[in-house]
Amino acid sequence: MTLRMTRRAFCGAMAGTAGLAALPVRATGPQTLTARVAKAQIAPPKYAPTAVWTYDGTLPGPLLRVFQGGRVTRRLVNELPVPTSIHWHGIRIDNAMDGVAGLTQEAAPPGGAFDYDFAVPDAGTYWYHAHTNSFEQVARGLSGALIVEETDAPDVDRDEVLVLDDWLLNPEDAQFMEPFRHPMSLSHGGRLGNLLGTNGTFDFAREVRANERLRLRLINASNARIFVLRLAGLDGWTVALDGMPLPAPEPVEAELILAPAQRIDLIVDVTAEDGETAALVRFDDDDQWRPQARFPVAGNASATQRDGPAALPPNPNMAVPGIDSARRLDMVIQGGAMGRMSGAMMNGRSMGFRDMAGQGKFWALSGQVGITDTPFASLDRGETVRMKLTNDTAFAHAMHLHGMHFRQVADDGTLGPMRDTILSYPDEPLEIAFVADNPGKWLFHCHMLGHAASGMTAWIKVS
Ligand code: C2O
Ligand code: CU
Repeated sequence: MTLRMTRRAFCGAMAGTAGLAALPVRATGPQTLTARVAKAQIAPPKYAPTAVWTYDGTLPGPLLRVFQGGRVTRRLVNELPVPTSIHWHGIRIDNAMDGVAGLTQEAAPPGGAFDYDFAVPDAGTYWYHAHTNSFEQVARGLSGALIVEETDAPDVDRDEVLVLDDWLLNPEDAQFMEPFRHPMSLSHGGRLGNLLGTNGTFDFAREVRANERLRLRLINASNARIFVLRLAGLDGWTVALDGMPLPAPEPVEAELILAPAQRIDLIVDVTAEDGETAALVRFDDDDQWRPQARFPVAGNASATQRDGPAALPPNPNMAVPGIDSARRLDMVIQGGAMGRMSGAMMNGRSMGFRDMAGQGKFWALSGQVGITDTPFASLDRGETVRMKLTNDTAFAHAMHLHGMHFRQVADDGTLGPMRDTILSYPDEPLEIAFVADNPGKWLFHCHMLGHAASGMTAWIKVS
């Protein structure tokens, strides 16, 4: 059975069912995050619960909230049978706390621990996830939301964190399909789930009132899925991308594209009426629009809709000055099925594509498979860098830079919104620019996690 058929079979089997929704609660008690095996009812109730890997037993992990300028202090306690580490995605973090096993720390072994303690300079929507064999550990459930609150928060009636995910389950028993390193998914679009959901359930729902104003924090925690989303019964504005505020709210008029690891903060007003259901809807694999999160309307918050929202207060250090005199880097994304790559450097020697594939590697960044002792670039602290990305593959890739945010440079030299993950489409070159103001060893990789594991990972050094 092909992956695609399996996907359809599972979706068909669960049509017309309903379930309960639950939001993770704020972590209390000792300041630990325990990575451990648990069971979660992700699939409809007629299925068995799924054996998942979690932080503190919940899927997604506990929702962490901290004020801007504060610190996150958590001891990772590893009760899993394998080593693990946590990456705090999008935080402009102290390098030693970045959580990349093999680059910034040794993974905590089974029975071991690692103390994370770092400042959060920026307000916004971030997330945390395993960064040791992430293609498997994140797929098994090791991720959660990290919200950094503005001291001067926008006026909304409620704040909802929506962790969007998909899970590839065996339709027979609702357990994860293995292997996680499937050559077919590694060399194509990545591991796509056959069950989609929000906050750990296939049928997330939250009751709202008419004309209520919500802040929706969308996080794509899936391994490889690019969510295509629309609002139904909601009027909305995008106010931040990847945690970083936009200079002005942008009305949501078209579809929202949310690539793996990206975040969108929306402010939405409920325009559906009492008794109706508003929703965040997604474009599904079978070309149907289906709810990704439902908002049944019960009662009225007010008789009329409010005025448009104000912009979020900006974060510090959002400027990318001096792009005309910036250092220029060129990165070519290569490989994959139906690609043009004949081979690349791997473990210090040149290898043909067929031999690479034999070792489970299908991708390269500028001729190099995975990371080596030598960084892709060594940058001087404080300098501005422009990096051209050429996607010479047949797939889209969600390229993520650790430690610093960047802006896209348009052809006319204007700068786009500040982000940490950008979707690169085949044969559409794009350029990003950033200030290398954070010293350390930083990964740059595709956030389709199977791609990252099979070659599409590089690192840069800032000193
Ligand atoms: Cu969210 Cu290196 O990743
Ligand atoms: Cu990729």
